[in-house]
Amino acid sequence: MDMIRKAMCFSFDKVRAERRRRAAMQAALLPQEFPGGRLRRMRPEDLAAFQAYRALPELGRYQGWSPMSDTTALTFLTDMHYAPLFTPGQWVQLGIAEPETDALVGDIGMYLSDDGSAGEVGFTLQPAAQGRSLATFAVRQALRLLFSATRATHVVGITDARNLPSVRLLERVGFEFVESRHVVFRGETCTERVYALARHDDSREAPANQGTTLGVSPRP
Ligand SMILES: CC(C)(COP(=O)(O)OP(=O)(O)OC[C@H]1O[C@@H](n2cnc3c(N)ncnc32)[C@H](O)[C@@H]1OP(=O)(O)O)[C@@H](O)C(=O)NCCC(=O)NCCS
Repeated sequence: MDMIRKAMCFSFDKVRAERRRRAAMQAALLPQEFPGGRLRRMRPEDLAAFQAYRALPELGRYQGWSPMSDTTALTFLTDMHYAPLFTPGQWVQLGIAEPETDALVGDIGMYLSDDGSAGEVGFTLQPAAQGRSLATFAVRQALRLLFSATRATHVVGITDARNLPSVRLLERVGFEFVESRHVVFRGETCTERVYALARHDDSREAPANQGTTLGVSPRP
């Protein structure tokens, strides 16, 4: 009996140690600084800033999310604070923050496909922070993080064709246009543009996509 108990304790210890090792590894990945901003974990204290920009109809017009109640938003921010990064089949949302104040000004959603081979990215920036390349730098940083922490071969960006700031951002970052799709979104027929960016090192500015399965999930 003693032997069994000892063996069970040993395997629980191993599980705990593995969890601690993973948590420490993930904690080391964030925050990350980039020119003009910081990519960091979202947290419950972001509630007011998050709710202020997520309530703006123009920011949500082409996105998969809708404004949330404060209670739902608080749960979401708490979940995202602790969510493991890059779990296959899951979205994780990271915050974009001002470097001086650490105030939340936007967020980036990242998704890893079930088999871990493909990523997807979505992004939002509050209007007052737009027009100074903050989102471009934040998305580049988030892509570096995703490519360094996973074995994804490419990342997809899907945008409504009318969403020109989003189209320009994807192209600036180096995404290549793959295809247009006619879809029904919120009851309206629209055209989505699908972009892809292949795994790359920083020395290559705009790598070609690999033409594999694209559009791994619904809009973030
Ligand atoms: C998509 C979105 C994040 C883009 O924001 P953005 O501010 O245009 O992007 P950046 O922060 O990278 O800034 C780049 C812009 O700033 C401009 N800029 C950069 N530095 C500048 C400067 N010193 N002076 C003037 N303009 C400057 C760039 O020219 C570029 O503008 P352009 O695209 O008109 O050429 C933003 O429009 C948004 O949040 N939209 C709603 C959410 C959404 O639809 N997301 C996409 C879903 S996938």
